[in-house]
Amino acid sequence: MTEKELVEAAKRARQFAYSPYSNFKVGAAVLTKSGKIYSGCNIENASYGITNCAERTAIFKAVSEGERDFLALAVAADTDKPTAPCGACRQVIAEFKINKIIMANVRGDTKVVTLEELLPFPFCDNDMIL
Ligand code: THU
Repeated sequence: MTEKELVEAAKRARQFAYSPYSNFKVGAAVLTKSGKIYSGCNIENASYGITNCAERTAIFKAVSEGERDFLALAVAADTDKPTAPCGACRQVIAEFKINKIIMANVRGDTKVVTLEELLPFPFCDNDMIL
């Protein structure tokens, strides 16, 4: 599985974006350690705030199928620069310690960053006094 294939999976998922309010289509795909790909798109709602981003759709699909271990995530949209995950998605990416994030756009530009670069100083489980 190459970075390019994961980006292609994200782009394919993008076509299913449900984004009648923003008209902004986003696709994402995660690669599990076992070699499986789960993809997702953004899903908007008339109550705008409950919109689910593509990255979280992909991750939640995978986790709800029993996956916990991920190697990489790709995200793609029609942006000038490679599409960067929003803050909420960064927090979810950090939860599952996805260490490689491939940001892409539909015209083929990519930028690969680590989780540390994407979300320095994350809030994580060991910050909680349980
Ligand atoms: N969106 C994503 O799917 N991922 C991001 O990281 C940024 C934003 C979606 C949410 C909404 O449907 C649209 O893009 C505009 O914000």
